[in-house]
Amino acid sequence: MARVALVTGGTRGIGRAIVERLKADGMKVAAGYSGNDAVAEACAKDLGIMVVKGNVGHFADCQSAAERVAAELGPIDVLVNNAGITRDGVFHRMDSEQWGEVVRVNMDSLFNMTRQVIEGMREREWGRIINISSINGQKGQIGQTNYSAAKAGMIGFTKALALENAKKGITVNAIAPGYIDTDMVQAVPAKVLEGIIAGIPVGRLGRGEEIADMVAFLAGERAGYVTGSTLTLNGGQYMS
Ligand code: CAA
Repeated sequence: MARVALVTGGTRGIGRAIVERLKADGMKVAAGYSGNDAVAEACAKDLGIMVVKGNVGHFADCQSAAERVAAELGPIDVLVNNAGITRDGVFHRMDSEQWGEVVRVNMDSLFNMTRQVIEGMREREWGRIINISSINGQKGQIGQTNYSAAKAGMIGFTKALALENAKKGITVNAIAPGYIDTDMVQAVPAKVLEGIIAGIPVGRLGRGEEIADMVAFLAGERAGYVTGSTLTLNGGQYMS
């Protein structure tokens, strides 16, 4: 039986690459998205996947998205918590909205989404939860106290949940991508981005497909002994 996967933020960027890869691996895949209907519809059409709209920062949206996926595709076996936003700015000028939005979407979403699927996974004694953190949750980044805090929080969540569910056939892992060639990274001021790329030993931005390959491994049957890990894919920019 094909496994069912839900990838939040799955219609663009890293998320879309993950969706494509899991679909190619034979899973039934749904992509979550929050705003851009046109992009989501195109993604659904191009890839032949289900899309579900909702804000991962809102518990009720996550509940209805998970219910819709389960009704259409079956119980969710693989959850990829990928949706994320930035609201960069130095802390001494950051307002509570910049802080709150980033923490809600990047970190509260782990509670909001994972809570929808964990009981079913425990009952079926199989599950894969993969949280897309960031290099900046590991090393910090000027202009990202909000994002770095949320992304580091994802790593703590990953470890605690992995411990709670290790005996239930459920693995919980985090991936910490470096700077990947997405809209989010291209929004960094050009001069700043130039400096960042100069500091990446491999000498280039990463590709969404490179993150997707790692997700595909963690989501598979053969990764049952990998849990509580944070896997870094950053071109050597930060070695933890
Ligand atoms: N050390 C200490 N302070 C620094 C600094 C440095 N190297 N560089 C800048 N600053 C401080 C300055 O002192 C200045 O503060 P004051 O004006 O109060 O003196 C403040 O930063 C603002 O500097 P600027 O006016 O030059 O810039 P800004 O306010 O327009 O923007 C910034 C600052 C938001 C940090 C901007 O440089 C930026 O966007 N940087 C990129 C941050 C980044 O890497 N984001 C990653 C996005 S992609 C992503 O997040 C994906 C992922 O997971 C990797």
